[in-house]
Amino acid sequence: METIPTRQHFAEAAAAIRQATSLQPKIAIVLGSGLSGLADAVQQAVSIDYRDIPHFPISTIPGHQGRLVLGELEGQPVAVMQGRTHYYEGYSIHQVTLPIRVLRLLGVETLILTNAAGGLNKNFHTGDLMLIVDHVNMVGMAGINPLRGPNDPELGPRFLDMSKAYDRGLRQLALQVAAAEGIPMHQGVYVGLAGPTFETPAEIRFLRLMGGDTVGMSTTSETVTAHHGGMRVLGISGVSNVAIDQVDSQSEASHEEVLEAGALLTPRMTAVIRGVLRQL
Ligand code: HPA
Repeated sequence: METIPTRQHFAEAAAAIRQATSLQPKIAIVLGSGLSGLADAVQQAVSIDYRDIPHFPISTIPGHQGRLVLGELEGQPVAVMQGRTHYYEGYSIHQVTLPIRVLRLLGVETLILTNAAGGLNKNFHTGDLMLIVDHVNMVGMAGINPLRGPNDPELGPRFLDMSKAYDRGLRQLALQVAAAEGIPMHQGVYVGLAGPTFETPAEIRFLRLMGGDTVGMSTTSETVTAHHGGMRVLGISGVSNVAIDQVDSQSEASHEEVLEAGALLTPRMTAVIRGVLRQL
């Protein structure tokens, strides 16, 4: 059986972070591809390289700095993950979600997950934001679930209800903030795939039929882990590209395109998250 990290591993990682700062964040933010700019706004920032945190998986791709930034944002003590790891990088799903367990152990109660995603919904354009109302965890449905393996009842229940994974109060707050800031925000279903391949046009049409609005390679396993640990989750997709649904399309998907869209998405994402933090 693969080795699954336990409370002991989470505690060792948390201890290393506590040694670097006495800050007690109640809110954590995970920044997706091309969205790392928000971390620069953190005040009195203490930055810890993932390499210096025991057991933390290290980001291997451009656009993911691989730093945990602790400090204040809008007067709130926060922990910002500047970059995340993905299942396709070769880590186990338990390693990918280990940082979420560690954040919980540090006292984080509210988790804000962001991602760059492909737009499945035909009304979505590059640069749009979408509030994640629900998800389809394709990776989890295929058996690659972070809760697979022995359950530690200290962390959460064996069988987890997922009907309210994205907190209703946080969703309402995010919508209010977006409206007040004049930032259009769609609502919809995020589909989490393993990647690293982008989807074929047939897969895109399938995911659309199935009820997906955005598609990406992260987030769903983090949501499962956070919800298991009793954290409130807010999820926001930034549409970095529109999905290609025909084989004779002139366009192609690329990671460069995803990162470029970050320049468009970051100010909008930042304004919404700052607004939410002000109200929490
Ligand atoms: N597909 C999957 N993941 C993604 C995409 C996409 O089109 N864009 C950004 N992440």
